[in-house]
Amino acid sequence: MTNDTTSRMTKCRISDAPVVEFIDFGKMPLGNGFLSEQEFDSEYFYSMRAGFCEESKMVQLIDQPAPEQMFHDHYAFFTSTSAGMCRHFRQFADDVRGRFLGGSDAFAVEIGSNDGTFLSSYAEAGIKHLGVEPSANVAQVAVGRGVRTISEFFSPALAEKILSEDGPANTITAANVICHIPDFNGVLAGVAILLKKNGVFIFEEPYLGSVVEKTSYDQFYDEHVFMFSAMSVAYAAARHGLELIEAEPQITHGGSMRYTLCKRGDIAPGASVGRQLARELELGLDKMAAYEKFRLNCETSKRRLMEVLEEMRGKGLAVAGYAATSKSTTVINYCGITRDHLAYICDTTPIKQGKFSPGAHIPVVPYEVFKNNPPPCALLLAWNHAVEIMAKETEYTRQGGKWIRFVPEVTLT
Ligand code: SAH
Ligand code: TMP
Repeated sequence: MTNDTTSRMTKCRISDAPVVEFIDFGKMPLGNGFLSEQEFDSEYFYSMRAGFCEESKMVQLIDQPAPEQMFHDHYAFFTSTSAGMCRHFRQFADDVRGRFLGGSDAFAVEIGSNDGTFLSSYAEAGIKHLGVEPSANVAQVAVGRGVRTISEFFSPALAEKILSEDGPANTITAANVICHIPDFNGVLAGVAILLKKNGVFIFEEPYLGSVVEKTSYDQFYDEHVFMFSAMSVAYAAARHGLELIEAEPQITHGGSMRYTLCKRGDIAPGASVGRQLARELELGLDKMAAYEKFRLNCETSKRRLMEVLEEMRGKGLAVAGYAATSKSTTVINYCGITRDHLAYICDTTPIKQGKFSPGAHIPVVPYEVFKNNPPPCALLLAWNHAVEIMAKETEYTRQGGKWIRFVPEVTLT
């Protein structure tokens, strides 16, 4: 069933020019829609297709479920489940603080502050801050950590409200959330309202260039409405009197980009912008041909992954999924992975344990199930956390446990 709360765009969400479809992933449930057996019959599905707009250069989902379907009082993703991300955000927060939050009246806003991981270091340092986080359960965790948080969706109206109550912001930061918000124009309008003169809007999101280079198609899921590039961000920013002044690659989430914007003319753009734009032209990200090639690469990746999983099944070797990431929902449902291929998926997040994976309904179990009774083979679904996981699993690997990976290529080692 495809629910009628889906909105379909055949026009670009940024420019109003047409969006041309380049891949159809098929019927897809919500990436974070882990569910109980009683919920199987009412599970939400939509048609997941991605398209490209020649005018804005924006890659985007064509259909998108209503945000309330995804962000609510039982949102399953907590930033703090990854020690690597906690370190990353501590460094990011320190860097922003050192460069932009020097004054005694400095005010830092974060959009999509989740469980307060990023803002907690400002809370500890006594810096005035505000987290905007619509998912009430994660927002509550942040409040418990002393992080001032309001549970709302960021919008121009909310920006006006914050401005009138707290004054303008020196910094507005965000990570892995701006690409979630279908109304990117509204976000930029809100930023233009709330930002102080010489203030900055810094956000980091999964990067289109990495997705294309690594065939990491699992970065497409309902929450990722946009797959940004320096090109498309610069285009959208210009429509709101904003300017891209830095574009810095990040290794997080399998390849991200950190974009810094300011009001046009406030701060001169750094060399990183020209560098990234040139690189994107080299990759052909401004042309449809790159996305057609990407689709072919996805089809090859899918075929090879299923060959490996079928081979394991044929040999009677059990395979466990390692980490029930939101991205894994795309891989599992696009490739057609079933309970016959994966015995279970282990995950450290309590809210996911005891539930079933979206669409394929593979049981999600506590990590200890894997640890205490290691299967012969594991499918590394959290490939973006590979360094952290391989360090944790040296014993499993040493004992002969095998890993199936699918980014950048399908391998069994
Ligand atoms: N920044 C964190 C969390 C990313 S998950 C990190 O990188 O780990 C995305 C978060 O953004 C979720 O907690 C979700 O509830 C929140 N979110 C979604 N739409 C939003 C919106 N319109 N305004 C503010 N936050 C939003
Ligand atoms: P993410 O890829 O969206 O960051 O989600 C990470 C998921 O992976 C989250 O559900 C927690 C899980 N996880 C583990 O189960 N074990 C681990 O060692 C790591 C790093 C993550």
